[in-house]
Amino acid sequence: MISLLYDVNEYRKFLNKEVKMNFTVIELGPHLGQATRLYLDRTKLTVAVDKSIQAETAIKKLQRDYSNLKFVKGDVRSFYTVEKVLKITKGCDLLAVDMGGGRFPDTVFKVWAVWSGIFKPKHSIIRNRGLAEFIQRAKIKDASIKKKFPDDGWMSSWGRTFPYQLKKQMREFKFWVDI
Ligand SMILES: C[S@@+](CC[C@H](N)C(=O)[O-])C[C@H]1O[C@@H](n2cnc3c(N)ncnc32)[C@H](O)[C@@H]1O
Repeated sequence: MISLLYDVNEYRKFLNKEVKMNFTVIELGPHLGQATRLYLDRTKLTVAVDKSIQAETAIKKLQRDYSNLKFVKGDVRSFYTVEKVLKITKGCDLLAVDMGGGRFPDTVFKVWAVWSGIFKPKHSIIRNRGLAEFIQRAKIKDASIKKKFPDDGWMSSWGRTFPYQLKKQMREFKFWVDI
């Protein structure tokens, strides 16, 4: 399932509702952990990834009470940040993305596409106003897309068969980004 949210309060509520017992969650852009703290007591592992000092301070404070919370400081657009998270987990049940809801739908989409392709979540939750507006307006006018895609949180363009050729994906990703 891929869920798209517009408003940050709705995002926090929805994310809290969707995190189930013993989930592994990757949360991109937790900021002060206002969504994170709501669901932390239920997860087997939560990896919070953010590049800001405020996030680092807030998440490190939360880590005092939750040993299941890991923090990776880094730019989520970067190959090296993905590599750091891969050292902690090779997959997740839920991928949450909130890089600042009002801006850069293209970047948010790219980040989601890469991270979901690598960590293969069952459910992705994205907050971005531009993407939500786009989905609300857009209609597919091409009947050739009759195929019903599986209801999980990543796209088939990464390939459906296991093993998913992670090395190849990471090579492509490294080539594609410049940070
Ligand atoms: C609006 S805040 C997220 C709010 C949070 N979801 C909540 O419920 O309170 C956006 C966060 O994304 C982080 N962020 C934005 N771009 C980023 C990037 N390229 N790499 C890592 N973190 C990023 C910011 O540092 C900030 O902490």
